[in-house]
Amino acid sequence: MMTARPLTKRFLRQAIRVFDAAATPYGVDRYVELVRPSWSSTEVRAKVVRVERTTPRTVTLTLRPNGNWAGFRAGQYTQLSVEIEGVQHTRCYSMTNAATDRHGLIELSITAHPEGRVSRHLRQSATRGQVLGLTKAQGLFTLPHAEPDHMLLISGGSGITPVMSMLRTRCALGWTNSVTFLHYALTESDMLYRLELEELARTSPNVRLVRVFTDEPGTGDLDGFLSLDQLNAADPGWASAEAFVCGPAPLMDATRTLFEERGRGGHLHTEAFTLTQFTAEAGTIDGTVRFGASEIGRPSNGTPLLNQAEAAGLTPLHGCRMGICHTCTRTLCSGVVRDAVTGDLTNGPDVEIRICISIPVGDVEIDL
Ligand SMILES: Cc1cc2nc3c(=O)[nH]c(=O)nc-3n(C[C@H](O)[C@H](O)[C@H](O)COP(=O)(O)OP(=O)(O)OC[C@H]3O[C@@H](n4cnc5c(N)ncnc54)[C@H](O)[C@@H]3O)c2cc1C
Ligand code: FES
Repeated sequence: MMTARPLTKRFLRQAIRVFDAAATPYGVDRYVELVRPSWSSTEVRAKVVRVERTTPRTVTLTLRPNGNWAGFRAGQYTQLSVEIEGVQHTRCYSMTNAATDRHGLIELSITAHPEGRVSRHLRQSATRGQVLGLTKAQGLFTLPHAEPDHMLLISGGSGITPVMSMLRTRCALGWTNSVTFLHYALTESDMLYRLELEELARTSPNVRLVRVFTDEPGTGDLDGFLSLDQLNAADPGWASAEAFVCGPAPLMDATRTLFEERGRGGHLHTEAFTLTQFTAEAGTIDGTVRFGASEIGRPSNGTPLLNQAEAAGLTPLHGCRMGICHTCTRTLCSGVVRDAVTGDLTNGPDVEIRICISIPVGDVEIDL
């Protein structure tokens, strides 16, 4: 039997579609958002309901998304958009709360980078009541549906966010198998969620917490950077674990090497927040990059076009800087670029490319 509520919702949606067509060219959203900014007929938007400056460099935001949000799996991220000085910027942030949360709220923790535009802005200026743009949850770095016999969660710095959501979700689901949470922070005061994690480890016999404060030897549970000895000490059962790691490239590389040496590469799941390797090949980087719309030309330096544009003083829109969000897509007017992730070549003219992962091969013109 159909209830009155879905019928009302369907009627409302149809009414909005009719009104939207009548409200062309701006659409109904542009009118309604004047009185209720978090409302949209199609876009995900969220109101900030809580702001906590959790460590000297982080801000934790609790958001109430509108009805277009469809939930998430632990480990996934959203693309957050915020207006700074009249310009819309988009960046990826991982949800940190349990994916089982029934209140419809989501939590994000953002670490300010010294030069970072969006992270510094949110750390300094995010306020209760502010409305932010989001996308539906994305990403394949997720907690498995079935409980593994043993889990190892490894994170460094801001990389704690997706694995925190995995740990919280696992606890909310009442999973009882063992889990080791190995986290690297510069100092004790830099460690996000420290008190909650310490409390959890104290009260849950199946949760083992290992803290490493790399700038303050002697203050954590272990010292130094990830090595075989350290991993054996942190989690003697690591070689049989389903493992999830998120953090700086050296931590991810060291973990990958240890798992592959043990033939356990297939049980290691990784999430990177930045792309660190570019595949410019010797002899292919000579040439000139021309930013057509800005009438700027300069010799190529072999890095992705986004970096070269920024070095030339331009400020192109971008999000993830690693080819996943498509925010930086621009038209390649002429020339050839190499995809820094796959190595594939793309020829102009007039093809859309993601400039954050496109390295020019010879002379290139881009519509920037
Ligand atoms: C899937 C995914 C999930 C993410 N989840 C989170 C999260 O939960 N919490 C969080 O704090 N961040 C997260 N990030 C990183 C986030 O998207 C931004 O990259 C970060 O906040 C910096 O943005 P910005 O605008 O402050 O810096 P920008 O103004 O874009 O960059 C400023 C400078 O910092 C460098 N830079 C940019 N990003 C990083 C980085 N991540 N590490 C080191 N240097 C960088 C740039 O190369 C540039 O030189 C995630 C990224 C991805 C791809
Ligand atoms: S910035 Fe995300 S794809 Fe380029």
